[in-house]
Amino acid sequence: MIKLHDKYFKPFISAKEIDKAMTRMATEIANDIGDEIPVFIGILNGSFMVVSDFVKKYPKPCEVTFIKLASYEGVKSTEDIQRLIGLTQDLTGRTVVVLEDIIDTGNTLAEVHRIFKNEQVKSLKIATLFYKPEAYKKDYKLHYIGIEIPNKFIVGYGLDYDGLGRNIPEVYQIKETQYMTNLVLFGPPGAGKGTQAEFLKEKYNLVHISTGDVFRFNIKNETALGMLAKSYMDKGALVPDQVTIDMLEAEVEKNTDANGFIFDGFPRTNAQAKALDVLMQSKDSSISAMIALEVDDEILVQRLIGRGKTSGRADDADESIIRNRIKEYYDKTAILKDYYSAQNKYFGVDGVGSVEDITIRLSNAIDKL
Ligand code: IMP
Ligand code: MG
Repeated sequence: MIKLHDKYFKPFISAKEIDKAMTRMATEIANDIGDEIPVFIGILNGSFMVVSDFVKKYPKPCEVTFIKLASYEGVKSTEDIQRLIGLTQDLTGRTVVVLEDIIDTGNTLAEVHRIFKNEQVKSLKIATLFYKPEAYKKDYKLHYIGIEIPNKFIVGYGLDYDGLGRNIPEVYQIKETQYMTNLVLFGPPGAGKGTQAEFLKEKYNLVHISTGDVFRFNIKNETALGMLAKSYMDKGALVPDQVTIDMLEAEVEKNTDANGFIFDGFPRTNAQAKALDVLMQSKDSSISAMIALEVDDEILVQRLIGRGKTSGRADDADESIIRNRIKEYYDKTAILKDYYSAQNKYFGVDGVGSVEDITIRLSNAIDKL
């Protein structure tokens, strides 16, 4: 990962892949042009590296020149293209190939076409190393495309972010989500998970996503996902993981400026843990740790019986029901403990002591992540 100004970028396209695409384009263009001597026109600044590598690969005589246009501000393309250096030679009757580093909205390309409108060239072809089809808003034909990429900001190989990154020989893609602390919080019934989640949320500016709450919210508000989930529940069937994941994704997207998330009540199975990893990856992030509050069974039983006396919750009153819930918890979470341990992400925290002491233990574990 690299940092340019205030933003982080991750490796995206290797120098080798770029080289392959460039070789392919040079061969293809040389075959199409035949024996004529083309004029290759680079669009400065970005295309200097593309042009330099391209012409070295071009197997026949050719001419090279540049025009200089400017459109980008930071990470956004603007409509307003400035013509800084125009055409400086007569191109009448010539075969011209414009070499672009990247075509994004196509605004720059529109300006290129305006520049050539009154030139009596024999033919005008457009070649670009990178192309963002989702961003392209014009109809101009792109004759040669090196690599199609998603609509995300990239740097390297001539492309910059506010002046930096042009000299990097490979291409990096922006990390849209910056650093996050994403916790999967576990604890047997009575371990004090809810209390601790409240503290962690405050202390680390995390968003607490309790799967139970998310379900109730979606069903109550009759969202599309809520109705879908309900249709399974009404049939007595399990809600498919994908539906739950989609709900969680919606929660994650609602909170893009959070420092991270506390997942509570999810995952419950290996498949769900994997799905959660995929979701986090799609947000350029990952699960930082599974944090499990560890409390001895006998203490849990005493705590829950005590709670049952004041709360009147039926499931807290009967000792055998309590023991069964605790057992069920260990049966179910054992697999997840293995899953996260394998990635060195499992942290057991002693959950016996005062609320403050336990918070300190949790913080110690999180601060080391
Ligand atoms: P367009 O006018 O929107 O097609 O954008 C073309 C110009 O914007 C390119 O020549 C680049 O200078 C710049 N640009 C577009 N996308 C990126 C990117 O992802 N990284 C860096 N510069 C970009
Ligand atoms: Mg450019």
